[in-house]
Amino acid sequence: MPTTCVVGILWGDEGKGKVIDYLAADADFVVRYGGGHNAGHTLILPSGKLVLHLVPSGIVHPHTTNVIGNGVVVDPIHLCSEIDALRTRGLPVELGGNLLLSERAHVILEAHRRQDQWAEGARGSGRIGTTGRGIGPAYADRCSRIGLRLGDLLRPDRLRQVVRAIAAQKNAWFVPAGIEPLDAEAIVAQLLDAGERLRAGIVDSGAVLRRAHAAGRRILLEGAQGCLLDLEHGTYPFVTSSHASTGGAFSGTGLPPHAMRVVGIAKAYSTRVGEGPFPTERGDEIGERLRAAGKEFGSTTGRPRRCGWFDTVAVRYSGAVSGADELVLTGLDVLRGFLPLRLCVAYRLADGSRTTELPAFDLEHAVPEYEDLPGFTEDLRQVRRFDDLPATARAYVQAIERHTGIPVRTISVGPERDQVIVR
Ligand code: IMP
Repeated sequence: MPTTCVVGILWGDEGKGKVIDYLAADADFVVRYGGGHNAGHTLILPSGKLVLHLVPSGIVHPHTTNVIGNGVVVDPIHLCSEIDALRTRGLPVELGGNLLLSERAHVILEAHRRQDQWAEGARGSGRIGTTGRGIGPAYADRCSRIGLRLGDLLRPDRLRQVVRAIAAQKNAWFVPAGIEPLDAEAIVAQLLDAGERLRAGIVDSGAVLRRAHAAGRRILLEGAQGCLLDLEHGTYPFVTSSHASTGGAFSGTGLPPHAMRVVGIAKAYSTRVGEGPFPTERGDEIGERLRAAGKEFGSTTGRPRRCGWFDTVAVRYSGAVSGADELVLTGLDVLRGFLPLRLCVAYRLADGSRTTELPAFDLEHAVPEYEDLPGFTEDLRQVRRFDDLPATARAYVQAIERHTGIPVRTISVGPERDQVIVR
């Protein structure tokens, strides 16, 4: 199938960067369809570690065209600095060549960042733990139909008109709320400057992708965040503001909803950054050991990630919502020495009932029911064939398949590109 969509199965940070990097080697196009620079994809390259926030991971492959789709919210100032950083690392970034930007993608303004940080403060103990990068407010303005699109940066008169309207509307509540008011003319000048820098890349990317799709070109859709952070299917309200699951891949690119292969990325244990329910979280020594062994610190904000056991209830739900045909299991090597290994197979809810479905409410009160497996003490990082894994590690993977109903086709056993088992 020429089109593949890669989605994070839980709350993001499943190691999509490495998998996309691996799959991108065979792709003609790598496309981001949602989110913004709240995402962070870590790539391990021969030259060292590289964290991408907005630019698709295919940028490291010379033959790949990378597309920032219409469903992404773009901070043009951040994008310019990310492009500069890539060029400094010796990676060629050619706007209009190997990097295309949808003219329909909405723009994140400094105002959105101020609004995001103010709203988090106002939520007090109910805070979401956002990345503070203005993602939610930018999507909110898109829905309210007062947003600015990347194509507007190339249309000075329209840009001025839209920015003045946004500034008037926001200042009406920024000033009484004590948020620094917006200077419309300064914003326009900054955006015109960014528009000039990005001009060659701003195109009708949907048309480009539909043509590529019709011609049978290989398209890799790179999900950001994860299904449980999806605005509609995730652990609302502790979610991001975009459609992180596969549904967003169509609306966020303009590609038609034809069949595509969906690859779900799941970590061999679970992590989450930010607030919100996480039934299998371990706030004890187990959680700390997982964090240390998996180096679980956010690639965007550096925050320590919350860690816990694998949750087959949540993974089965997300796999169904995203239509995952297969799972890539990452970080299996990290579980070395955790004896026993625990898999959550059901929840006991506050009313005493037992369920194997992810509830829409009161997930914070769900108590996991576990199946214990023996675990392994061997170092897996040199293993390249499933049959060469210790029997206990194989049994763990097979139990995940049994409980989720999704085949595990690929297993990552280390951060390096070649530390992969393909079955
Ligand atoms: P926002 O996307 O900045 O609005 O943050 C909303 C929630 O999504 C917070 O819990 C963030 O920590 C989480 N989040 C956003 N982007 C990522 C990501 O790339 N990985 C993991 N969590 C994320």
